[in-house]
Amino acid sequence: MNGPAEIAANRVAILHGVNLNMLGRRDSEHYGDMDLTALGREVGGFARELGLEVSFFQTNHEGEYCELLHRATEIADGLVLNPGAWSHYSYAIRDALEVAGVPAVEVHLSKVSQREDWRRTSVIRELCLASIEGEGVAGYRRALELLRERLGAG
Ligand code: DQA
Repeated sequence: MNGPAEIAANRVAILHGVNLNMLGRRDSEHYGDMDLTALGREVGGFARELGLEVSFFQTNHEGEYCELLHRATEIADGLVLNPGAWSHYSYAIRDALEVAGVPAVEVHLSKVSQREDWRRTSVIRELCLASIEGEGVAGYRRALELLRERLGAG
């Protein structure tokens, strides 16, 4: 139980990267039919059930994604990261995550390990608490559960 002087660490930011705003128009075999707004509604519902305060960001600009990571402690106590294709090669995002200073879970809607070879690499995986793939929107719920455990925000 939190005493009056304690502040709950329950803010989670969901950071979507390049092309994730195109959900609903992308290959439904890998990404399903849900667009980003509907996905946000689902994830918002999971967060409420788990007692987490969630915020959403999406950008197609790598530098902007890095800047979100630079100010991570201002916006969140934990991060759910789906950087899209950047996950596979962006050392800039990897380095920015290193300075973020809050726990992060990597999520991919699709089963990246069973797709093209180049998708099997993740340059952020080793900096994350966990890497979740191939569970669609349910993967975000699992990511939130892991962060809730880590943050002691139950
Ligand atoms: C993705 C997988 C990436 O390989 C791809 O580039 C994406 C989406 C996923 O959620 O499955 O844009 O991150």
